[in-house]
Amino acid sequence: MCGIVGYIGERQAYPIVVKGLKRLEYRGYDSAGVALIDEHLSVYKKKGKVADMEDAIVGQHLGGHVGIGHTRWATHGEPSDRNAHPHRSASGKLAMIHNGIIENYMAIKEELTQKGYHFSSDTDTEVLLNFIEDIRVNNACGLEEALRIALKRIVGAYCILLIDEDDPGTILAARKGSPLVIGIGKNEHFLASDASPIIEYTKEVVYVNDYQVAIVKKDELVLKNLGNEKVTPFITKLDMELAAIEKGGYDHFMLKEIHEQPATIFDCLRGRLLPEAGLIKMGGVEANIDALINAPRIIIVACGTSWHAGLVAEYLIEETCRIPVEVEYASEFRYRNPIIHPGDVIIAISQSGETADTLVALENAKEKGAFIFGIVNSVGSSIARLSHAGAYTHSGPEIGVASTKAFTGQLAVISMMALKMAAAKGTITTEKYTELLFELQAIPEKVATILKDTSHIEAIAEKYKDASDFLFLGRGYNFPVALEGALKLKEISYIHAEGYPAAEMKHGPIALVDENLPVVFVATRDRFYEKIVSNVQEIKARKGKVICVASEGDKVIPTMADDTMFVPDADELVGPLLSVIPLQLLSYYVGLKKGYDVDKPRNLAKSVTVE
Ligand code: AGP
Repeated sequence: MCGIVGYIGERQAYPIVVKGLKRLEYRGYDSAGVALIDEHLSVYKKKGKVADMEDAIVGQHLGGHVGIGHTRWATHGEPSDRNAHPHRSASGKLAMIHNGIIENYMAIKEELTQKGYHFSSDTDTEVLLNFIEDIRVNNACGLEEALRIALKRIVGAYCILLIDEDDPGTILAARKGSPLVIGIGKNEHFLASDASPIIEYTKEVVYVNDYQVAIVKKDELVLKNLGNEKVTPFITKLDMELAAIEKGGYDHFMLKEIHEQPATIFDCLRGRLLPEAGLIKMGGVEANIDALINAPRIIIVACGTSWHAGLVAEYLIEETCRIPVEVEYASEFRYRNPIIHPGDVIIAISQSGETADTLVALENAKEKGAFIFGIVNSVGSSIARLSHAGAYTHSGPEIGVASTKAFTGQLAVISMMALKMAAAKGTITTEKYTELLFELQAIPEKVATILKDTSHIEAIAEKYKDASDFLFLGRGYNFPVALEGALKLKEISYIHAEGYPAAEMKHGPIALVDENLPVVFVATRDRFYEKIVSNVQEIKARKGKVICVASEGDKVIPTMADDTMFVPDADELVGPLLSVIPLQLLSYYVGLKKGYDVDKPRNLAKSVTVE
């Protein structure tokens, strides 16, 4: 899940490409590089972050009106200068960048090696580049045709940008599986993995589809399929503002995005949640309400944090709609040859809308006749376009690798969807339905209350930052929240943390408990409260250090726990939207105090576009 940027036009390409790479650095930061054409083709690349590359090429010739740039998340070949992109072809005339994985590259490499090709890197990308060049030479055809021929032979996922020293007026681009957006300017075009490097120059974009090739000149954009047939580009207007992708005075995007949640949850509910009218307006749900409420089964497919939102959805939909729900890890579901019955509904949850495992799982399920409903944040993303219907979370661009505001956006959409379906199905009383509409409406303000003063959470982080392990426990709707808290801490602080249903402790994990193990309980007031209080006592009995998320006004928990983080009281069905906030902050502050890059944690990337 690398970041790809390209520019062709009348301006100098280098500054635009480098600025774009910095906007995409959350996609991967193992190495960075650019290729520019002025008189000649120049390629500069360096292990590390974009800034490291900039420092390394000060004083070099960086002129030219066409340029491509790459920030890498290593798959084939360790992070190093020689494995960094762009790669240069054997003739030295072509340069290419790639986001994705070519699965059959070893076979092609073998073929080319027998022809006398040598490779300076371990990457699949360099193999593909020389394969394209070899086809051009042997078939005596143009580069675009050679590219289309090569793409028909490879297996895997790709978004590639290709430039030729002998044709400085063209960028060739192609995608399958990995995202590509092209921004349309006046006598210039911008190419990128997502819209964030493009937004400050133009709001007119084209989302390139799978198996399409783009021939991009400064004043012309031609789209073709691999069969060399032209395709009319579909221009979309971006509804995103530049400010949305700036830090807005916060030290980190993660902290900014945590503090944005009162506004982003409000935006997600706006125009959809109408408690006074007893209504929930969701076009995608309304238009498909029969398919949704008559589904014999609902299968939720997702990864990571989105999978945790799926678990909350399971509890919510089963309780309010009485429809059986299964929550599947997309990476397992895609290969398990799952049984899909006619009428089964798949709900796909994804912030980026580009997660490869989720995307392919949906493609497989769609082929088997399932109805796909997407809950996505990134507008125009592949999962959004693949789904039969869906709902956006309207959380705005999420830059921090650790998902925060998108998670609460997903929970808000799922809550509205479940309640709307339950009302249509008649499986919820009007009183409870109305009560929950007002409970949801109150959430943004309650989140703002939690965020008013977070100094006590910062102090708790300081106290436990040197722990080597953590346990997170919850019951019912708070169990997925415990899993999410553990994931956030792992991602940001690199501390080993596990989430568990609290009652599961006695079946093994309690053996881990001693005076060195912090145990975080999500212990807000709900139908499991008494049970969770005894679970806290079990841990205290073994000298465990207990940190609790508790409901405001709770007089019992603070007497038992070593540390307590309060959240406003709320119905347990909407409770996860509140109880997760202190856990997001705890992980942020622990990571910060350990001196880690909380926006770009090691080994991670924001959007996992390779399997
Ligand atoms: C969460 O903080 C992580 N970034 C990761 O687990 C993420 O949730 C997962 O990769 C799924 O991403 P998606 O929602 O964009 O599909």
